[in-house]
Amino acid sequence: MTSFPALRMRRTRTHAWSRALVAETVLTPSDLIWPLFIAEGQGVEEPIAALPGVSRWSVDRIAERARQARDLGIPCIALFPNTPGGLRTDDAREALNADNLICRAVRAAKEAAPEVGILTDVALDPYTTHGHDGIVDESGYVLNDRTSAVLVEQALVQAGAGADIVAPSDMMDGRVAAIRGALEADGRHNVQIMAYAAKYASAFYGPFRDAVGSRGLLKGDKKTYQMDYANAEEALREVALDLAEGADTVMVKPGLPYLDIVRRVRERFEVPVFAYQVSGEYAMIEAAVAVGAGDRDALVLETLTAFKRAGAAGVLTYHAPLAARLLGA
Ligand code: PBG
Repeated sequence: MTSFPALRMRRTRTHAWSRALVAETVLTPSDLIWPLFIAEGQGVEEPIAALPGVSRWSVDRIAERARQARDLGIPCIALFPNTPGGLRTDDAREALNADNLICRAVRAAKEAAPEVGILTDVALDPYTTHGHDGIVDESGYVLNDRTSAVLVEQALVQAGAGADIVAPSDMMDGRVAAIRGALEADGRHNVQIMAYAAKYASAFYGPFRDAVGSRGLLKGDKKTYQMDYANAEEALREVALDLAEGADTVMVKPGLPYLDIVRRVRERFEVPVFAYQVSGEYAMIEAAVAVGAGDRDALVLETLTAFKRAGAAGVLTYHAPLAARLLGA
């Protein structure tokens, strides 16, 4: 039995106005979170070779970026520090310095554009000499509870500087509850927690590790804390736990190869789920553009819309300013 020619699927695709009318998914600048890297110094812009088009900015120049986000309609920026080598230690104590690079950047961005939300990463990798997200023992194993105790302090320091969302990206067990409890005790009831709930041990983080200066330092891999990319059910357990512990929103990371996870989390839980289109994904698009294999604007809009179609409430992407411009804020 065929309904052709009474039914022609191409009919509604014939004109742009009609395609717009039946579009199921709409991407807007308000779906975007823009990750930015911070460097020490004055008046500094340091291009990152592995991320063509992305730079580290000194604290005095982060104000311009925050205002740019506001003017483009990007609701939130995420800040990541490239801690000077001399301040990296085994115990990551610089992460707890209320005047460290990230805290100064948070204050500068807040002052420049108070209406833009600020997300900070809770994890120790930009501060350790071994490049791991936590405190390691003699064998190099990342110690869960000792790390969690430091992450709590780190989150309080970031919230104290003005971070609106603290985002634990470390994958320690129990850290969301610990951080939530500490924020409440500190009177910071409205500081949100976006949990990197399903974060996979991925080969797509390479350029980010260059950007925060941890690539050359990293000993071994992160497989004892980040998830195995073979697993999906386990991601649902991670999300359930982080929600039970008090996460306001959850994140799936990386992005494009994990849209199945985004979809499943979205269907299982009534919670905003975010996706991180990570550095290696950005680099992949830029590499394709560089060899003439695709059109940047088209690739960016298609991939970002795919996240929304999969069920994401929003996307962290280094292409945020470009996408916001294309979407005509
Ligand atoms: C740190 C962190 C990483 C990313 C975000 N936070 C790297 C890692 O876990 O090694 C990756 C982001 C990206 O690749 O764009 N815990």
